[in-house]
Amino acid sequence: MSLFSLQINGHTHNVESEPDMPLLWVLRDILDLTGTKFGCGVASCGACTVLVDGDAVRSCVLPVQNAVGSAITTIEGLSPDGAHPIQKAWEAVGVPQCGYCQSGQMMTLAGLINRHPKPSEAELSAAMSQVLCRCGTYHRIRQAALMAIDAMNQ
Ligand code: FES
Ligand code: FES
Repeated sequence: MSLFSLQINGHTHNVESEPDMPLLWVLRDILDLTGTKFGCGVASCGACTVLVDGDAVRSCVLPVQNAVGSAITTIEGLSPDGAHPIQKAWEAVGVPQCGYCQSGQMMTLAGLINRHPKPSEAELSAAMSQVLCRCGTYHRIRQAALMAIDAMNQ
């Protein structure tokens, strides 16, 4: 076991874990930040997506030792009160069904907008098609994503 100092949602967290423990499990099992979900564990579904220095990253395959020194943002840190334009758009459209994939959806969109504030249709499709939704809410995700992008470019 080793001690790691992580910057998560603007706070420093000192955690003891194996160096190769995926960040996902540090977040969920050690820090109780359970908004980040486990879907596949092999970087295929996107449920575990968080921001690492602003980029959307799959935390199930990121060893905690590689996250040291980066600013990590989870769904809990997207806004203090659910008022981030992405969260407001998701609520306005009523996107979630079971909800399980939705933090990964929102963090993926947040990462895209960080890099491309006004993404093209193709960029939006390319980014969001990488995050699976078993409930098939893709239509509403797209509608809410366009709403959020619009709001963030006012
Ligand atoms: S749990 Fe990480 S991509 Fe599926
Ligand atoms: S809302 Fe159920 S998996 Fe996406």
